[in-house]
Amino acid sequence: MPDPTIRRLHPFDRRRIEARYRRLDPDSLRARFGGILGADGLTAHIDRLNREDALLFGAFPDARLRGLAELCRLPDSMPRACEAAFSVEPDWQNRGLGDALLSRVLAAAQNRGIRTLYMICLPENRRMQHLARKHEAELTLLPGEVAARLETP
Ligand SMILES: CC(C)(COP(=O)(O)OP(=O)(O)OC[C@H]1O[C@@H](n2cnc3c(N)ncnc32)[C@H](O)[C@@H]1OP(=O)(O)O)[C@@H](O)C(=O)NCCC(=O)NCCS
Repeated sequence: MPDPTIRRLHPFDRRRIEARYRRLDPDSLRARFGGILGADGLTAHIDRLNREDALLFGAFPDARLRGLAELCRLPDSMPRACEAAFSVEPDWQNRGLGDALLSRVLAAAQNRGIRTLYMICLPENRRMQHLARKHEAELTLLPGEVAARLETP
């Protein structure tokens, strides 16, 4: 697949983001949030992203938003650190969007002076762990989750 268009998302993209979350299947929702979030939970999550001024990036391999990366500042971290999370809708998974979004998020973090990125995934989420390792993350197995730590280039 040719390189997908990746761009920063803004508050005016909210309806796109909500629609994209609704296209995630239960397995993807569980992989992303560690459990199934209903409509209210997803609305609350998007509200929180707006409140906390998260940096959001979208992958548009066709005309629609198919993949989303969320970058949230960890409060009081010094040097500055962020948590990153990713979700790609089912029909578009395993086609390079997650990798492209992770590269973009690493570059965005570096440009903002953020040294460290953390990502959390379920232990069975081998795909996410593979992507993290591909970007030289250090992985730690914790009870019920795997934490990945990446240093920006
Ligand atoms: C995890 C996720 C974000 C990855 O995005 P993606 O677009 O599917 O991933 P990509 O296609 O860019 O890359 C997948 C890589 O994993 C590899 N892979 C796929 N399945 C794998 C498996 N079971 N074990 C190990 N590696 C695997 C692919 O070969 C590819 O590697 P390569 O780039 O070296 O060829 C996406 O699948 C997703 O949204 N899953 C549900 C939500 C989720 O798990 N979020 C992560 C929690 S933050």
